[in-house]
This record gives sequence, C-alpha cells and structure tokens, in this order.
Amino acid sequence: MRETALITGASKGIGKEFAILFAERKCNLVLVARSADQLEELKKALCEEYGVRVHTIVKDLVIPNAVNELFREVKALGLDVDYLVNNAGFGDHGAFVDTQWERYEEMIALNVKVLTHLSHLYTRDWIGRKKGKIVNISSTAAFQPGPMMAVYFATKAYVLHLSEALNQELRKEGITVTTLCPGPTRTHFLEDSGMKAAWLVKNVKVATPRAVAELGFKAMMKGKPVVIHGTMNKVAPFAIRFLPRKWVTRLSAKVMGHSTVGAIW
Ligand SMILES: NC(=O)c1ccc[n+]([C@@H]2O[C@H](COP(=O)([O-])OP(=O)(O)OC[C@H]3O[C@@H](n4cnc5c(N)ncnc54)[C@H](OP(=O)(O)O)[C@@H]3O)[C@@H](O)[C@H]2O)c1
Repeated sequence: MRETALITGASKGIGKEFAILFAERKCNLVLVARSADQLEELKKALCEEYGVRVHTIVKDLVIPNAVNELFREVKALGLDVDYLVNNAGFGDHGAFVDTQWERYEEMIALNVKVLTHLSHLYTRDWIGRKKGKIVNISSTAAFQPGPMMAVYFATKAYVLHLSEALNQELRKEGITVTTLCPGPTRTHFLEDSGMKAAWLVKNVKVATPRAVAELGFKAMMKGKPVVIHGTMNKVAPFAIRFLPRKWVTRLSAKVMGHSTVGAIW
C-alpha cells in the first residue's frame, strides 16, 4: 500500500519541493495552504506526472480550531498519514517596536502553535504503530538571537529545541522527528519578510528550495535529528559556541541589519 505525506505550506517554496520529492517516490499526498489555485495546479501536475493521489485542503492554519479541523478532515478521507512536513511559516524583518502586534500573534501561531499542535496530534495517533516521521522546518536563525527579526528567530529556536526533544522522547516508539535548518533560500519568504534588504541575504549564497527540500527529505527518511543546509551555514552555529553570548548577539544584529561587511568586522 502507498504511504501518505501531509505537507503544510505546500503551495510554493520549500513545501512545494517536498511535495514533488514525495510524489517522485510514489507517495500519496495531502497538501495544505491558503492558495487554492496554486494547490490545484500542483495537484494536477503531480497526478499527471507521477500517478499519485493528491488531496488539497485549503485552510488558513492560524484560524482558531483550524488544526483540529485539518486532522479530522484527513481522517474523514480515510487516510493514514506516515510523514508529516511542518513547513508553513513566515518571518518579518524590522524593528520589534515598529511591527504590529497582530503580525507577531500570527507568526507565533503559525511557526510555533500550529507546528506543535500537529506534531502532538500525529505522534499521539502513531503511538503503538512503530512508525511515523516528522520533519519540522526551523532555520539557521534558531542558533542565535536575531535583532531586527527577534520574534522570528525566537520561534525558530523553539522549533529546534522542541523537535530535538521530541526526537529523543519518541525514538523508542519508532517515531522520528527531524529538524531542517535552511539558511537564506530563494522563495517568496525573502520578499514577504522584507529580508532582501538585510546584509545577510545580499552577501551569502542563496540556496534553491529544491536543494533545501532534498536535504530535509533524505534526513527525514534516515531519521536524522538535525540538518543544516549549506557549508557556511554549518560553520556559524559551531563557531559561535566559542564566543561570548553578547558578541554573538551584536554580530547577529550587524548581519540582520543593512550594514556593510567592514562594519561587521
Ligand atoms: N526562504 C528562506 O530563506 C527560509 C530560510 C529558513 C527557513 N525558512 C522556513 O521555511 C519554511 C517555508 O518557507 P518558504 O521559504 O518556502 O516560504 P514561502 O515560499 O513563502 O512558503 C510559505 C508557505 O506557507 C504557507 N502559509 C503561510 N501562511 C499560512 C497560513 N496561515 N496557513 C496555511 N499556510 C500558510 C504558504 O501558502 P499560502 O500563502 O498559499 O497559504 C506557503 O505555501 C518556513 O517555515 C520558513 O520559516 C525559510
């Protein structure tokens, strides 16, 4: 019997690439996002090209009770989810005090609450079955504080810590939880978050969503705990362990600001 993968934020970017990777391996799909047209287009392409069954669920996941509804709708379709990709998320570049509270409320709801709730629902469902794999999309933002994107960085640190702990707790149940940490990646995220103006994005190699999803997909299949995309992205979390915390935050402020290379060093 074919396996099933549930992907949040599958209409574009990294989530869409995950959908293609699962379809290439003949896995059936449940794709979730708000954009009905983009989901339908992807469904059509994947059904035609790979002959897999694709269900689309159009849903704004931050609306109260949306996660419970999603879980029930998937059950009503008679589907047993084997893989959960908690990918939907967004960020916002700017001063903490300049950003509207509603934007942060939504960000914390999507990046933290929705991801935690879906992980909770599915891991409880999988107990006793000795199966089930989750990949949670964090970020290289998880490894240090991020002035000018403080809330986003904090949400991604939460995702990293939660996922590492769950992976440890659930291993005995045959369930694995992988954390994928991409650096800057060429998706709508960079424009929507306003991050294009940051020194970081102007000065590092921006990854393709396919390369990022491929790394996460392989790591998930192997049950690896944490993977970071990109060589330079791997160096930073290691190197900052040897620096005083105060310096790390100052350095991060430079990288997330509009400064020049000279100003950083
Ligand atoms: N791109 C980067 O540089 C980068 C770096 C590190 C980590 N990440 C993380 O990677 C993940 C994927 O982002 P991406 O780069 O692929 O960005 P993206 O192209 O903007 O995709 C985000 C996805 O999330 C969905 N989404 C947003 N709000 C939603 C909501 N309220 N309910 C349901 N779905 C929602 C979007 O679909 P709809 O708009 O159709 O709802 C879209 O499919 C995020 O968690 C992000 O934090 C990205």
